Amino acid sequence: MDDIYKKHSLHLTDCLNSITIQKRLSLFFVIAVFGTVLLYTLRINRMPVMSSDMTMHLTNSSTQTKQTIEIVTSRRPNQLSKYITTSGEIAHTKHSVTQWSQHITPLIQNRSIHELDVFINNLFKDDFHASHFITISFNGRLGNNIFQLAALLSCAKRINYTAIVPSNGWIHSYFLLNITYDINMTNVKTFNEEKFGKYDKDIEDLDSSSNWTLSGYYQSWKYFLMEEDLIRRSLKFKPIIYEPARQFVDNLRLNNKTIVGIHVRRGDMRELKHKMDGYATAPLRYIYKSMKYFRDRYKNTSFVICSDEIYWCKTNIRGYNDTVFSNFENPGSALAVLSLCDHVIITSGTFGWWGAWLAGGDVVYFKGYPRPGSKIDKGMCREDYYPPHWIGID
Ligand SMILES: *[C@@H]1O[C@H](CO)[C@@H](O)[C@H](O)[C@H]1NC(C)=O
Ligand SMILES: *[C@@H]1O[C@H](CO)[C@@H](O)[C@H](O)[C@H]1NC(C)=O
Ligand SMILES: *[C@@H]1O[C@H](CO)[C@@H](O)[C@H](O)[C@H]1NC(C)=O
Ligand SMILES: *[C@@H]1O[C@H](CO)[C@@H](O)[C@H](O)[C@H]1NC(C)=O
Ligand SMILES: *[C@@H]1O[C@H](CO)[C@@H](O)[C@H](O)[C@H]1NC(C)=O
Ligand SMILES: *[C@@H]1O[C@H](CO)[C@@H](O)[C@H](O)[C@H]1NC(C)=O
Ligand SMILES: *[C@@H]1O[C@H](CO)[C@@H](O)[C@H](O)[C@H]1NC(C)=O
Ligand SMILES: *[C@@H]1O[C@H](CO)[C@@H](O)[C@H](O)[C@H]1NC(C)=O
Ligand SMILES: *[C@@H]1O[C@H](CO)[C@@H](O)[C@H](O)[C@H]1NC(C)=O
Repeated sequence: MDDIYKKHSLHLTDCLNSITIQKRLSLFFVIAVFGTVLLYTLRINRMPVMSSDMTMHLTNSSTQTKQTIEIVTSRRPNQLSKYITTSGEIAHTKHSVTQWSQHITPLIQNRSIHELDVFINNLFKDDFHASHFITISFNGRLGNNIFQLAALLSCAKRINYTAIVPSNGWIHSYFLLNITYDINMTNVKTFNEEKFGKYDKDIEDLDSSSNWTLSGYYQSWKYFLMEEDLIRRSLKFKPIIYEPARQFVDNLRLNNKTIVGIHVRRGDMRELKHKMDGYATAPLRYIYKSMKYFRDRYKNTSFVICSDEIYWCKTNIRGYNDTVFSNFENPGSALAVLSLCDHVIITSGTFGWWGAWLAGGDVVYFKGYPRPGSKIDKGMCREDYYPPHWIGID
């Protein structure tokens, strides 16, 4: 899933050739000194939220072509993170200050050491050495990862901890997360959610005597109820994922249409063993009914269908001249399409859930997911999973 990015990655080492050894050594020295000072000396206990951006002009040493690289360095309280992007795409992400410095060194090319010094000083002046960290272990795929991230960020904010976002997980392939911090925590306790699809109130009582790892799925809007803005701000699609989706949805907006996204989840939801547990796919009846709901409610609706089985949709959802199918195979772009719709109809699974939440309009969900009376249904709490203003239809 990372392949799309590898293509666009800059090979930073290319630039190394064009910088003198002497300059390199001096720069490493400045950075090493600064890094040491930063990592081991600063213990200022306050909450800076600062982000610095800078554009660097480079010459590609193999092709002699000029190139502009944007460096976006943004920090949440207690955290450093940095993105080096070319035309908005992540080219390189490094987690620790020292690692990052080593990677940025080749990029400074025509900048003076003094300039770099000022830059780095400004960048890290508010920094401090955090002592309380919280992380999460990513489970499942994109939709689940977003629930986990949302719970992590929101919990970290509430208890004043530094969130460490693990660098594995699906989410990094599609979102620009400026909140990654690389540290090996010691004195860690694990918080296990009691059941999935049910808000575990005990998360509100984490004590501050240790670092924490959150374990579980955290599939409830209640985990981030107080931090919706933070979650929205933190979930920025990578431009390479977002742009094609935006163009696609913009083209549907002609004639003042109200765009309703439909996420038809099938795939694994159809597997027998999953069905036994309570996973379910929505029948066509539900899809037509929910479309009617929006047609009755809004003038000039246009539907856009996203699915993990788009062929099934094309064959089965027919006879409407107001319906288009999204052919995005990249799950990030499909999620971006949903997020760009005015309203969303979902069927099953967390992926659609997040498309609907990100869109932020009316949401119709399938009451048959999970199957009422099933094992999953009995373990979860529907009120915790589905936000109260979403409309259940079966
Ligand atoms: C979080 O930490 C900051 C800085 O140390 C402090 O001002 C603030 O009161 C703390 N907030 C909570 C909820 O503990
Ligand atoms: C320099 O150009 C070559 C050839 O186009 C390319 O493969 C390489 O990634 C470029 N290096 C950088 C740092 O952009
Ligand atoms: C670096 O080079 C770019 C052009 O490639 C130029 O615009 C910029 O002013 C230069 N910066 C410095 C500090 O020399
Ligand atoms: C964390 O520990 C691992 C394994 O011991 C090590 O490879 C890694 O470099 C450490 N990371 C940091 C930031 O210390
Ligand atoms: C959390 O881990 C860090 C890094 O090992 C350590 O310095 C810090 O003391 C730990 N925090 C607590 C509250 O134990
Ligand atoms: C990064 O963090 C800043 C706050 O420090 C926030 O305003 C910005 O939206 C974030 N960007 C992304 C891509 O998450
Ligand atoms: C577009 O739709 C909005 C709301 O549905 C309506 O207020 C507006 O007047 C419409 N504009 C045109 C040009 O039809
Ligand atoms: C619906 O679309 C038609 C053209 O397709 C347009 O003339 C009409 O104003 C639109 N109605 C609304 C309420 O936007
Ligand atoms: C779409 O179909 C509806 C009825 O099914 C019809 O009233 C409308 O004119 C059609 N629109 C177009 C653009 O064909």
